[in-house]
Amino acid sequence: MTKVSMNVNGKKVSRDVPDETLLSDFLREKLRLTGTHVGCDTSQCGACVVHVNGKAVKSCTTLAVSLEGAEVTTIEGLANGKELHPMQVAFNDNHGLQCGFCTPGMIMTSVDMVARYKAEGRKLTSDLIRQELEGNICRCTGYHNIVKSIEDASAKM
Ligand code: FES
Ligand code: FES
Repeated sequence: MTKVSMNVNGKKVSRDVPDETLLSDFLREKLRLTGTHVGCDTSQCGACVVHVNGKAVKSCTTLAVSLEGAEVTTIEGLANGKELHPMQVAFNDNHGLQCGFCTPGMIMTSVDMVARYKAEGRKLTSDLIRQELEGNICRCTGYHNIVKSIEDASAKM
């Protein structure tokens, strides 16, 4: 067992965990933050994406004990109180929610994507959005409404 402490959604948390504990299990089972989903467990589907120190990572292949002192944000921490994040609003407005299981990971990836392109002063086209989403698998509709949602949020963020 190793004691690990990190800030999750702005709150300091500490737990004793086996060294092999994955961040996804830490969030879901230790903290009951079940908005982070596990679809594949092999780093392919993206349902488990959260932010670590502001960057999107797959929590199913990140060890919790490697994140001592890290800032972690999950889908539960994205809204500002009752005010949804612009990406959440855009997914709602453009019906990007689709099946729902993948949505938290899609949104966390999308927020990182838009922030990264804005920081680099690069234009985020729909082709680039599709490329950037390669780590998030959607099996339901071919991404159309997800791409529309990200374009909408990108104009507002
Ligand atoms: S559960 Fe992590 S990428 Fe699928
Ligand atoms: S959003 Fe989940 S399969 Fe498409």
